[in-house]
Amino acid sequence: MRVLITGATGLLGATLAPALELRGHVVVRHGRRAGDVRGDITVPDVVEQLVAGERPGAVINLAALTNVDQCESDPNAAFLQNTRIVENLANAIETRGNGCRLLQVSTDHVYDGVGPHGEEAVHLVNYYAFSKYAGERAAARISGTIVRTNFFGPSQASGQHSFSDWIVGALTRRETVRVFDDVFFSPLSMAALSGYIAHMMESGVPGTFNVGSRDGMSKAQFCFALAAALGLPTDTMHHALSTDRAHAARRPKDMRMNCDRFQERFGVQLPSLQQEIESMRSHYHAGA
Ligand SMILES: NC(=O)c1ccc[n+]([C@@H]2O[C@H](COP(=O)([O-])OP(=O)(O)OC[C@H]3O[C@@H](n4cnc5c(N)ncnc54)[C@H](OP(=O)(O)O)[C@@H]3O)[C@@H](O)[C@H]2O)c1
Repeated sequence: MRVLITGATGLLGATLAPALELRGHVVVRHGRRAGDVRGDITVPDVVEQLVAGERPGAVINLAALTNVDQCESDPNAAFLQNTRIVENLANAIETRGNGCRLLQVSTDHVYDGVGPHGEEAVHLVNYYAFSKYAGERAAARISGTIVRTNFFGPSQASGQHSFSDWIVGALTRRETVRVFDDVFFSPLSMAALSGYIAHMMESGVPGTFNVGSRDGMSKAQFCFALAAALGLPTDTMHHALSTDRAHAARRPKDMRMNCDRFQERFGVQLPSLQQEIESMRSHYHAGA
């Protein structure tokens, strides 16, 4: 299939694009400043021309403003990049798409309260979450596939670092890090997530799906488990609470997702987070 990835030059795009190519798809990488095709896709005409010119069988949208505090201090930027872009894509696909599918990558940040959360338990606590959820609604209007997720693993994108890159780098340099006992999540490795996104895109099943690891853990448990898997020293890593640190945006404390809908609909058994962490041994080559 010919697949247009918008926002392909970011963190997830750099792992997803080659994974799709390995499965035999022809990938067109779009970025604002780099990529096979370029342009600011908050502008409707740019998106119309992109969809009409590239004639993709599917668009996977990764373009976003992912900095949660920046979204809070500039809600209009959050709206433009997390909502307007998806509206533009949905409109262009509807009018010029010729049967093209839309897969919108969203976030576990749309949840709050005690997890694991089912897809209906949306609870929005900041502008990042609001703008991503509004983007989901735009994708749903044209029966898109919406993937709520979170991810980690070594970045293949220049200048972009994942959460696990940050921990591995800090521990390797023996810097002091504080890791939160009161924040829970259920991410996947970017490698595994890319395979699931490909599978969802190929099947073309519409709907909203949580796609994360089978269980989840606190961020502190995750960081200590990652250090153990990679044989990194942990004497500079300290337990802390998220309330010890001031952020511009309020953040959810428990983003763990119940992924039963995805597992049942796609016949997939998701890995546990511990299994995903252990897979990092071969990805990072640290302490191995
Ligand atoms: N990172 C995470 O930990 C995380 C967790 C959960 C969910 N997600 C979701 O996963 C998706 C991918 O995240 P990511 O971390 O790969 O994002 P990222 O690294 O921040 O990359 C975002 C991409 O979007 C492009 N972009 C932004 N605004 C644009 C515009 N107006 N016109 C054209 N391109 C634009 C950027 O291009 P430029 O670089 O040229 O601006 C970049 O290629 C997002 O939907 C995000 O919400 C991310």
